[in-house]
Amino acid sequence: MAAPAFSNPIVRWIDHRLPIFSFMHHEMHEYPTPKNLNYFWNFGSLAGFMLITMIVTGIVLAMHYTPHASLAFQSVERIMRDVNYGWLVRYLHMNGASFFFIVTYIHIFRGLYYGSYKTPRELLWMLGVVILLLMMATAFMGYVLPWGQMSFWGATVITNFFTAIPIVGDAITTWLWGGYSVDNATLNRFFSLHYLLPFVILAVVGVHVMALHRHGSNNPLGIDMKGPQDSISFHPYYTVKDYFGIAVFLLFYAGFVFFAPNFFGEPDNYIAANPLSTPPHIVPEWYFLPFYAILRAVPDLWIIDAKLAGVIAMFGSIILLFFLPWLDHSPVRSARFRPAYRFFFWVLVLACLVLGWVGANSPDASFHGVPFLWIGRIATSYYFLHFLVILPILGYVEKPKPLPLSISEPVLKRTAYGAKTMEKA
Ligand code: HEM
Repeated sequence: MAAPAFSNPIVRWIDHRLPIFSFMHHEMHEYPTPKNLNYFWNFGSLAGFMLITMIVTGIVLAMHYTPHASLAFQSVERIMRDVNYGWLVRYLHMNGASFFFIVTYIHIFRGLYYGSYKTPRELLWMLGVVILLLMMATAFMGYVLPWGQMSFWGATVITNFFTAIPIVGDAITTWLWGGYSVDNATLNRFFSLHYLLPFVILAVVGVHVMALHRHGSNNPLGIDMKGPQDSISFHPYYTVKDYFGIAVFLLFYAGFVFFAPNFFGEPDNYIAANPLSTPPHIVPEWYFLPFYAILRAVPDLWIIDAKLAGVIAMFGSIILLFFLPWLDHSPVRSARFRPAYRFFFWVLVLACLVLGWVGANSPDASFHGVPFLWIGRIATSYYFLHFLVILPILGYVEKPKPLPLSISEPVLKRTAYGAKTMEKA
């Protein structure tokens, strides 16, 4: 990499000894990026923005929070009422978790639609799945910290599922709890890990972006760049587009923080944890609802009882994403040129939304006479069929549309056409 000539002598001096400025220039300035990226490519930088926001607000919250079963709830109330701008920091963090998941889910579905997980970006995708798992663990433990009713009972329900593991299940659960129930020891370790994991996520994101920069971004056409005519420098074209994306995103985020800060929350979590009183409905945060639905949908399977089968299906629904680059072996990346895949992609989106809806309802309840349990079973079956059966078969039977020769070809064609119509006029 040729070092650019920096005009500032201090920058030149440092860069000669430690080439961080050359590195940044290479990776964030001149970095050749496909010129046809659409707004779905803003969601990676938005996820990065949310990660930093969560770390900063989380550190400030931790300055005022007390991780003890008899003090945690009051310490959060104090943050809300007495700490200067404590309400703002807490609402930014609380709603931030929801917005971080919204952004990340869109980021993932963008990858699914445009085939960004395909060669040579398999590791980039798999690192993303690691990030998703870490985000889920972090969010789950964070929700326990205010020590409200839903914190306590949510943690109790979910950790209890580990008892389903044969032979060692009880021992694992006791070990997770640090005792014989969710209690002070549990709260303490969850706080410790909740503080640690975001930094682990930050490190994995670093490697994620390194893997991205090895081959560069995929793009809506899903074809490789053929030369400089297909790319533009990252700065200023995509830096400015990312800033614009962040500005629009902030309108939504701030809208919820200032006007509907408890929209995503659960009123029961404003009641202090009480191990002697179980709330009638224990529901996880919205971003876990599809997984919660899968957990409850699975019946007894042969010698595996429903509880264990549910746990396996729930974890399996994410673990199978690691294998996606090999399950979908069609050489065409973008769904734009795969009509059949595009159809099934939208069915998958629908199945995931239905799973979220089912997760929010009691399995005993029904919708127009159809029990939610069965709606959940159908959607869960589709989720697994999609990845394990439909995608592998589509790779053989689907006839993709012809791909454009290059990224600039469709753009140039349109210009030529435009010129022609101008001539006629
Ligand atoms: C903390 C969470 C995450 C952050 C900060 C992050 C960051 C980024 C950034 C900055 C990009 C480049 C911009 C873009 O393509 O949007 C990117 C690309 C990508 N990310 Fe992530 N990411 C995160 C989570 C994930 C997850 C959970 C997955 C998948 C399971 C994933 C899969 C991908 C893929 C496949 C690309 C390449 C997209 C393409 O070039 O078409 N990422 N990520």
